[in-house]
Amino acid sequence: MGLQWGDEGKGKIVDVLTPEYDVIARFQGGPNAGHTLEFNGIKHVLHIIPSGIFHESKLNVIGNGVLIEPHIFEQEVAALREKNVDATKNLYISKKAHLILPSHRMLDAANEQAKGNSKIGSTLKGIGPAYTDKIARSGIRVGDIMEFDFREKYELLKCQHLQMAHTLKFDVLDFRIDGMTLEEYEQVWLASLETLKKFQLINSEYFINKCLDEGKKVLAEGAQGSMLDIDFGSYPFVTSSSTITAGVCSGLGVAPSRIGRVMGISKAYCTRVGAGPFPTELFDETGRLLCEIGHEYGATTGRSRRCGWIDIPALRYACMLNGVTDLFVTKPDVMNDFDEVKMCTSYEIDGKDTDEIPFEYNAVEIKPKFTSYKGWKQDLIGITEYDKLPQNLRDYIAAMEQATGVRVLAVSISPDRKDVLFK
Ligand code: GDP
Ligand code: IMO
Ligand code: MG
Repeated sequence: MGLQWGDEGKGKIVDVLTPEYDVIARFQGGPNAGHTLEFNGIKHVLHIIPSGIFHESKLNVIGNGVLIEPHIFEQEVAALREKNVDATKNLYISKKAHLILPSHRMLDAANEQAKGNSKIGSTLKGIGPAYTDKIARSGIRVGDIMEFDFREKYELLKCQHLQMAHTLKFDVLDFRIDGMTLEEYEQVWLASLETLKKFQLINSEYFINKCLDEGKKVLAEGAQGSMLDIDFGSYPFVTSSSTITAGVCSGLGVAPSRIGRVMGISKAYCTRVGAGPFPTELFDETGRLLCEIGHEYGATTGRSRRCGWIDIPALRYACMLNGVTDLFVTKPDVMNDFDEVKMCTSYEIDGKDTDEIPFEYNAVEIKPKFTSYKGWKQDLIGITEYDKLPQNLRDYIAAMEQATGVRVLAVSISPDRKDVLFK
């Protein structure tokens, strides 16, 4: 589970944990996600496909709670094939996962345009409109592509979307996806359905529960972060799915009583892409350094990420919502040269101290209150044991444990698969 505003390093940690599991399953989100894996000098970004895909003997599942954009999916499958990974062998897809249509992507752009100055900063992959149709009970699911009336359903939904775009005064003819007009992209999208049909389309809730019955271990891979959750995130600057542990239950069909450990991932600092509140954001040289050293550019959109110090009130909130049992801390190495590292331990709102996320998160002025820690001023590359990490870094991590009340299980010190030190 991502405990911040996304991009905490979920893909990397899932890849590292995969050998311990039998099945890796995505349960929500869609191609708005960008999960980066690095090993043997290879860097790979996944959007819809679970991060266990590089382990041939493990099964990967795209659950019912996920949104699939067939053409982006096809491109992802092709990129894996280039790396000699044949995803058709170990990737199953839920028939109940919903499809993102080209016109959902158009509506995403139309909605953002209509919002003017209050834009969300969406990845424009069609997430909001596709989940809207799911909840409105007018969506199209993966299983529908095998039905005789698929095209009829598709045309009907597209027609509704075009009417909505007209109402929003959106210029459909001017709209492009990958340089293509809506009509051109539609042909590419429809052709991509053939790739989807090559995969095993299953009732994933039965599959996953059967795996659990047989004593197999299932790892659910989150997308986005808790602060982007539709209910608890910084609404309306959120994504349109349940990004917390609760989403695992509805997005895979797994009962709460079957969930075991909950591993939460946080950077040693904080980032956010897109609009919305970010109390610890830095607009100074330190912020610029975090962005530059941390290569904080979106894995999906390439936008530069906003950077700041770690936000403990937000992290504690995320640990509470998810029921985190184990914490992973990523990217402390980005701050190797810093003289001091700061941690926001509470907020001052209207002259009062609080460590709760206020309902008026977007509207009130929040003054973050910081505790300062000494930098460790040391390169971490080459360290292979947790106990060999510099004392100042271990003190900082101990402070994170104390502030959240959750033990740290491991610390990641580079983008590479091998650099995760278990405590
Ligand atoms: P995700 O969306 O949570 O999977 O994270 P992203 O892949 O979008 O962003 C995390 C970025 O940080 C990627 O570029 C990773 O390669 C990189 N990364 C992950 N862990 C570490 C780490 O411990 N140190 C450094 N320097 N980079 C890391
Ligand atoms: P991963 O899984 C970071 C952000 C967008 C925008 C808001 C809504 O890589 O952590 P959407 O496209 O969902 O309508 O955008 O959410 N967002 C992410 N930010 N990482 C992500 O995924 C994100 N997915 C969406 O920038 O602010
Ligand atoms: Mg990401």
